[in-house]
Amino acid sequence: MSTAAAAPVGAKTPLTQLPAWKALQAHYRQIEPRHLRELFAEQPGRGTELAASFEDFYLDYSKHRITGETLDLLLELAEQSGLTEHRDAMFAGERINTTEGRAVLHVALRAPREQVIEVDGKNVVPEVHEVLDRMAEFANRVRSGAWKGHTGKRIKTVINVGIGGSDLGPVMAYEALRFYSQREMEFKFVSNVDGTDFAEATYGLSADETLFIISSKTFTTLETMTNAHTARDWALQQLGDEKAIAKHFVAVSTNAGEVAKFGIDTANMFGFWDWVGGRYSMDSAIGLSTMLAIGPEQFGEMLAGFHAMDEHFRTAPLGQNLPVIMGLLGVWYNNFFGAQTVGIFPYDQYLKRFPAYLQQLTMESNGKHVTLSGDTVNYQTGQIFWGEPGTNGQHSFYQLIHQGTKLIPSDLIGFVETLNPLGKHHEYLMANVFAQGEALAFGKTAEQVEAEGTKPEIVPHRVFEGNRPTSTLLIQKLTPRSLGKLVALYEHSVFTQGVVWQIDSFDQWGVELGKKLAVDIIGDLDGSKHNQHDSSTAALIANYRGRE
Ligand code: F6P
Repeated sequence: MSTAAAAPVGAKTPLTQLPAWKALQAHYRQIEPRHLRELFAEQPGRGTELAASFEDFYLDYSKHRITGETLDLLLELAEQSGLTEHRDAMFAGERINTTEGRAVLHVALRAPREQVIEVDGKNVVPEVHEVLDRMAEFANRVRSGAWKGHTGKRIKTVINVGIGGSDLGPVMAYEALRFYSQREMEFKFVSNVDGTDFAEATYGLSADETLFIISSKTFTTLETMTNAHTARDWALQQLGDEKAIAKHFVAVSTNAGEVAKFGIDTANMFGFWDWVGGRYSMDSAIGLSTMLAIGPEQFGEMLAGFHAMDEHFRTAPLGQNLPVIMGLLGVWYNNFFGAQTVGIFPYDQYLKRFPAYLQQLTMESNGKHVTLSGDTVNYQTGQIFWGEPGTNGQHSFYQLIHQGTKLIPSDLIGFVETLNPLGKHHEYLMANVFAQGEALAFGKTAEQVEAEGTKPEIVPHRVFEGNRPTSTLLIQKLTPRSLGKLVALYEHSVFTQGVVWQIDSFDQWGVELGKKLAVDIIGDLDGSKHNQHDSSTAALIANYRGRE
């Protein structure tokens, strides 16, 4: 166990100097002109040969513009980048988040009780379970009605107040697992500093049946603290007694001092640790709203799913390792094909917030322009993630993916069993998953269009070039366990890419400047300060103030 704050693995050869990188550049020139139609024709077993599975997860990556050689070279790149050493360093609690001097141990949040994971020589797993046990006790009391509000009524509405990692994980998980939730209770999420978010979430609610969870790792975030104070005022206005706060507010944070200052009894605080990054925190006490919704047992199932994928990532050979394969395919398109974005299309309405969740996970993690040693990169790093559930997206932006000029490698995520069997809905849904992958890969040639009797001048408009890559991830059923596996799959895929790109995937300095400037500008807006600004910003502030 290392306690050193230095980079876990020795000095690195620059990425573009690695032999595998150079080999991939040459290989790309051979692969780029090739069409998936040819690749499939040449390799009759391709559909099952380029596939990998783990438990009920089946990943078909055959519709990618790769050959077996591409994958071998990408795996060599991972090895030459020290992926296994970096992975082991993360699991061993080393301070791999070097710019913040922190360990990165979200994997400890889902470790079974008996596992030992040390940070600075201290096993952190017992503390994790101590908090989980407290959360479970609290969740059971609220869910059963044993926990009473100030006027003796049971809690009907839970409002999580938080932003970024203190919001996106909870809201995504709540939406994803709504089927398993306690339906008599209602769950809401307030994140935006725009007062509309708070006003609409609390519209018509009674404070005596409402519980606020103030979720903030730092307990200093402007948006969350503003919403928390507004919530406090709102509750006090209805309940008229400071003592009510203890029954209607709990906090989730690493900062006990600030929690106490805010007026929440630290007995009603659920803690976590600096080795949990915000965007990796949904398994920590930040998941309290999830546990309240689905109950401690199902929450435990979700953690077990995360842990199962952690173990797969930690132990499976790289060539059969789902997160590694997915991460490396991202590198292939990002760095060789120059693809800027990745489409995330879950064919499940319950996963409607999954793309937004992944945006923070992927883009806050890998949107970096310098390497761990501070050198400016001379290659592309994090891709832009975006998406919507299918089939809705098909009727809006898929046009551009099929016939536009941009290459958008996409992930299609489908479930074999639906949670809501209604007539033929599920078959239609899944038929669309398979149809989209097929259409994107193989397209439709001019000859095929002509053979349908299309007028010659219309033929070019109806041609689909194809050769648009997709991964299809087929999962048995959306359950707490499979959601855990799905999120961990992307977490480790992000990790894999960060290692290849030689960046710190666990800091987020890029959010600081805007936050600081906003604080300065608040003074300009209320007239208490007259800061110097560029002529554009100064004119905008003057225009705004002039119209108030
Ligand atoms: O936007 C930056 C960020 O620090 C995220 O990384 C984090 O998830 C979010 O703000 C919220 O921070 P906190 O939980 O400390 O309020």
